[in-house]
Amino acid sequence: MTVGPIEVKPFTVEHLGAASNVFVRTFAADPWNEVWPLTSARRRISNIAHAPGFVGFASFREGDLIGFVLGRLEPYCDEEHFHLQEMCVAPEFQRRGIGRLMLQHLHGYLVSAGCKQVYLITARESRAEHFYTQNGYRPAQRAGVMVRRLA
Ligand SMILES: CC(C)(COP(=O)(O)OP(=O)(O)OC[C@H]1O[C@@H](n2cnc3c(N)ncnc32)[C@H](O)[C@@H]1OP(=O)(O)O)[C@@H](O)C(=O)NCCC(=O)NCCS
Repeated sequence: MTVGPIEVKPFTVEHLGAASNVFVRTFAADPWNEVWPLTSARRRISNIAHAPGFVGFASFREGDLIGFVLGRLEPYCDEEHFHLQEMCVAPEFQRRGIGRLMLQHLHGYLVSAGCKQVYLITARESRAEHFYTQNGYRPAQRAGVMVRRLA
């Protein structure tokens, strides 16, 4: 299937509803298999979009939102770093270069904003990790992620 023209635009709160639907569908699919109530997805995306330093882009096909990348700029020592918090492309449009296109827009904007580094958390040895590697990312040398479940 050819995707046709894709438009990438800054993400705004007007996109919250459509983005929440895409998010729920995307993360319900393999390999994530996550069950997100729509209200939780909307709250998560809304929190990210309202935070200080927020930057996001969404992609559209024939006016419909089909993917997005969201995160925030954060001061780090004497630099600005970007925490890429959520990224997804609707399952039926994956592997057609839309993710790469959104990262190109994001990186271009971040460079112009003086940002020096992007970081993100993703699943090890996953399709997503492969995607980020193809786009110039590498596993952090020193940093790791720690978690603790609470009773
Ligand atoms: C990861 C994701 C954002 C990439 O966007 P995309 O538009 O599919 O990616 P692109 O078409 O630009 O790049 C394709 C590359 O991504 C990876 N990839 C994406 N989807 C894949 C799939 N279903 N199967 C295998 N590899 C896949 C591969 O490395 C692929 O490269 P290849 O075709 O040369 O093997 C998108 O696939 C997605 O939303 N996946 C589910 C949610 C997710 O994992 N989000 C990131 C979590 S932090």
